[in-house]
Amino acid sequence: MADLLIRRLDADAVAQHAASLAALLIDAVEDGASVGFLPPLAEDAARAYWSGIRASIAAGHRVLLAAFAAGDLVGSVQMDLADLPNASHRAEVMKLFVHRRARKRGIARALMRAIEDEARQGGRRLLVLNTRLGDVAERLYAGMGYVKSGLIPRYARSASGELSTTVIMYRWLDEQDGDPTI
Ligand SMILES: CC(C)(COP(=O)(O)OP(=O)(O)OC[C@H]1O[C@@H](n2cnc3c(N)ncnc32)[C@H](O)[C@@H]1OP(=O)(O)O)[C@@H](O)C(=O)NCCC(=O)NCCS
Repeated sequence: MADLLIRRLDADAVAQHAASLAALLIDAVEDGASVGFLPPLAEDAARAYWSGIRASIAAGHRVLLAAFAAGDLVGSVQMDLADLPNASHRAEVMKLFVHRRARKRGIARALMRAIEDEARQGGRRLLVLNTRLGDVAERLYAGMGYVKSGLIPRYARSASGELSTTVIMYRWLDEQDGDPTI
């Protein structure tokens, strides 16, 4: 997309974009996405979620990238930096959202490539994530080289009330080392 800009948001930028970030989360939850919340999600609960993320960014544990199309914030993705001494090479990718009005234009794929670049720059070579079995996101991650390593049944509640299965996936970014498939 020609007018797409992906930018890392610091804590101040999260405050500046609080309304758009809250709207993005509410849109994903209303769409039935498995992103931690169940519909309906109130605006102040969405804002409280982003305030918590703001604190994690300020503490250096979380990276947040946002996608802007023609100046509008239309997507985001996060990376949680494992901070245990034996895990400094690893991070968890989470909360990939693209607003319904901007989907199927390659924005999620661009956000994922950008978070991988951030990971490499920070020395994080192993990315892990989980996603609901059968969702569009599972196909997206598989198509980008993420390896499915297992399933956990009844992992998270869906809007329908049903407990749904999650897929655990990983990607080793340093391809010259070879894929460490078990
Ligand atoms: C999953 C999500 C982020 C995809 O965003 P997007 O910007 O529409 O995705 P992209 O346009 O980058 O598409 C990426 C790939 O997925 C495929 N895809 C996207 N939406 C699709 C759909 N509804 N049906 C089938 N394939 C789809 C595209 O074809 C594309 O593959 P390709 O590049 O090989 O053609 C978006 O649907 C979303 O925000 N969903 C709700 C939140 C969510 O579930 N996040 C995942 C949490 S783990």
